[in-house]
Parts: sequence; structure tokens; C-alpha cells
Amino acid sequence: MANVKFYTGEQIPLEMHKVRIIQRLNLPNVDERLEAITQAGNNTFLLSTEHVFLDMLTDSGVNAMSDRQQAAMFLADDAYAGSQTFFRLSKKIKEIFGTEHFLPAHQGRACENLISRTFVKQGDIVPMNYHFTTTKAHITEMGGDVVELLCPEGLEVTSDDPFKGNMDIPALQSFMEEKGDKVPFIRMEAGTNLIGGQPFSLENLEQVRDICRQYGVPLVLDASLLADNLYFIKVREEQCKYLSIREITRRIADACDLIYFSARKLGCARGGGICTNNEEYYRLMRPLVPLFEGFLTYGGMSVREMEALTVGLEETMDEEMINQGPLYIEHMVDKLVEAGIPVITPGGGLGCHVDALKFCDHLTQEEYPAGALAVAMYLASGCRGMERGTMSEQRRPDGSEVLSNMELLRLALPRRVFTLSQVKYAVDRLTWLYENRQLIGGLRFTEEPEVLRFFYGRLEPTSDWQQALVAKFKADFGDSL
Ligand code: F0G
Repeated sequence: MANVKFYTGEQIPLEMHKVRIIQRLNLPNVDERLEAITQAGNNTFLLSTEHVFLDMLTDSGVNAMSDRQQAAMFLADDAYAGSQTFFRLSKKIKEIFGTEHFLPAHQGRACENLISRTFVKQGDIVPMNYHFTTTKAHITEMGGDVVELLCPEGLEVTSDDPFKGNMDIPALQSFMEEKGDKVPFIRMEAGTNLIGGQPFSLENLEQVRDICRQYGVPLVLDASLLADNLYFIKVREEQCKYLSIREITRRIADACDLIYFSARKLGCARGGGICTNNEEYYRLMRPLVPLFEGFLTYGGMSVREMEALTVGLEETMDEEMINQGPLYIEHMVDKLVEAGIPVITPGGGLGCHVDALKFCDHLTQEEYPAGALAVAMYLASGCRGMERGTMSEQRRPDGSEVLSNMELLRLALPRRVFTLSQVKYAVDRLTWLYENRQLIGGLRFTEEPEVLRFFYGRLEPTSDWQQALVAKFKADFGDSL
């Protein structure tokens, strides 16, 4: 995005790319939307994309690639072992992160599996700024637990704190004093996903590193959302404003013992991997790659995706490339705030996060307000968002609900995919929905998987609220689109 001033004084993000391949979209009418979401068990994960207009479920694996990434895919070296493609990728990773060793994996959660199996044992506790769903599932699978030591500002919905993803340093210090012997590693997540794509500062990461060194435990970085975090460090952290994106990346990498990432996000491709300079950690994890992922020189990734990733990582070092997501999101957040809609501020990475607890303050958390809002948004617009709240938690062994700290509807803006008029449409329909929010009712599970239930659980509305919402939509818009 370029910082170009408009003559009218208007501030809109201006794209520094042009669209050269398009995909046709379909906007089903409101009756078809009701039918589709009912078929999908009121879970947006279960919708078929033929029924989705704007797919704002996630940025994972759906960012637009550049022409250079596409071109690189043709040069891939197909080989089970010793592929040149792998060496090109490892070299790029070494150049960017300064790490000697790279273990490829098929996606981010595969890295979490390898790391958890290697480091976590029964009774361990992993402190982190905040958990991610798959991270926590892998740690608990090994008999461990997570403790979130996020700074208190992190959970404030409206705030002007620039680094809501920071670790609470005094809390971490006292936790380590008390329970340090149970800690296999400390995890920091860049662009903290579940609290609205909020970044940590470089200063905070380096303070965490100091505590890790003091207690002799490794610092593990989840770099899946690093691109957004890098941009925020560059523009929000005073001491970093003269550092290049490359220099900031290196400072981050130097502070960490292990870096893993989902390349479905970082590098706008698909795949993942673990990077380290520590020979011992590398040797401990290495045998698991052929066991769970694939041979050491592809790890479950397609060679074409690896080539695209190599180019994508290089492009991530370009501020004008990585600012597109955050600037689009900021624009959307500003428009939602103007319309009085409760949304996480400041805007973060990944997408806009609507506060469903406030939006649907007539619903209890047991009625899954964020899930209900995701369904209502789909009905009102054909836009598919994702629940990030209590539905995304796992019940306790006694069956009781773990009520989430936040109830969010995430409307992801995959990088370089949507136009501003599409963003404007989503804002418009959400504004309509906000005015009719009393019509939104709750949901309850009819089929509830034990682990990661939000992915494929099925739900039903607790009343006929969806029919009422559809009727109001038709009355207000005069047609059914
Ligand atoms: N870590 C973070 C911070 C993530 O956001 C994700 C995925 C993963 C790990 C797992 O990576 O999907 O490649 O296995 N987040 C996606 C999302 C699913 O929609 O936010 P993966």
C-alpha cells in the first residue's frame, strides 16, 4: 500500500498491485443462504464455497499469490529426496532468520505436533502470551497444559494500546519463580490470533528472551502471523522506526531458540516448518519428520508450494507488501467504529474482529453469541466469518463449558484478495445487522465432537430467530439479495 494523499483529503488504502487473474463469485439470495446454513449445521466451517459470496473465514492458504510466486512454481524440482527446491527454501530461511536448520512440515499444526512431542510431557505447563486452538490441543494431547500470561490490555476490546499481544513480564517472572521446573519452553505468538491479530513489541519479546535465558528454557516463536507483527513493530515501536523489516526480522529471530510457522499465512503459500540454530533440538525433532510428515526435504509440502514460499518469504521483507493486510483492516475497523459497531481496536492483522458479547448483549456465552453472529452475518450478506469464542474452546472433563475470554466474530481479510467495494459491502450488511441485533438468537450443539469441536460440530438455533431475521431482511431490502 502506498502512502498517497488524496486531493479530497480522504484516507483510503491504495493498492500497489494489479489484479491479473480473477475468480467468479456467486451471491446466493437470502432464502438460499438460510437453506445453506441450515444444511451446514449452523457452522460456517461446513458451508460449501458455492454458497459463499465473500469468504472471510480465514487468511489461511487463501492469500493471493504474486506473479513471481506463480512463476517460481514452474521451476520446482520434483524429487523425493535432495530436491533443489528444498535447498533454495532452506537458503532463503537461513538468509532471513539466520537459522542453520530447517525441518519442513505440511502446515503449522504439524510443527506444533513435532514440538509438543519432543518437548512436552505429562504435568508440564507452557506459558505463552495467548494460546492458539491447535497449539493448545497439541500440548494438552501430550498431557501438558498452557498458561496465558497476556498483558492486561490484551483483553480490553477497545483500546489504543499498540501492542496488545505483549506478554505480562512481571507475571511471567513470578510464574517462572514458582513453577519454572515444569516449563519445557515459553511460547510467543506473533500477531496473536485469538485476541484479534494483535502484535507484540520487539522490546517485549527481548524481555521474554531474557527470562528464558535466566531460567534456561527455550523461547519458541509461532511466526505464522509474523508479517503483520513486523509491520506493526515498524510503524508503532518508536525504537524500531529506523530499522528495516529485514533487520527487525533478524532481531526477532535472534531472540528465539525455535521458530515455527504456518506457510498458509506467512509467505502466502501452503506448508510450514521449524527453524533453529540449536543442533540438539534439531536432532531431537528430526526423526519425527519422516514419521509424520514426509522425507526431510519436503515434509509433506508440494515442491511447487515450496518454491512459492521461498519467493513469498522474500516478498514479506517488503513493507509495501506486508502493509496491505493491516491497512485494509484499519480501514474496515474505522468504518465499523463510525457505524457504532463494537469491534476490537486498534485494528490488528488477519481481519476485523467484531465483539459479539457487546453486539449480542442479550445472549449468554452458553448460547454462543459469536457463533450466532457468524450465522446471522452469513444470512445478512453471504459473507462467511469465523466464530472465535466459547465454541472454539473445549469442554472440561466434567462436561462444563470453558467460557472464552472474548466472543469474537472474525471477518478475515486474506491478503490482496478483496476490493474495497467488497469491504464496503461487508460493512454495510454488518451495519444493518447491528440495527437488527435484537433479532439474533442463540445456538446449541446437536453434534459435538470432543476435540476442536468448532471445526465440524453441528448446531441448531434455540428459536425461530433466523426466519424472523430473513423476513426483516426482505422487508428492508425489498428483494432477497
Ligand atoms: N498458529 C497460529 C497463530 C495460527 O493462526 C494457525 C492457523 C496455526 C498456528 C496452525 O497453522 O492451520 O497451518 O495448521 N490458523 C488458521 C486460522 C487456521 O484460520 O486462523 P495451520
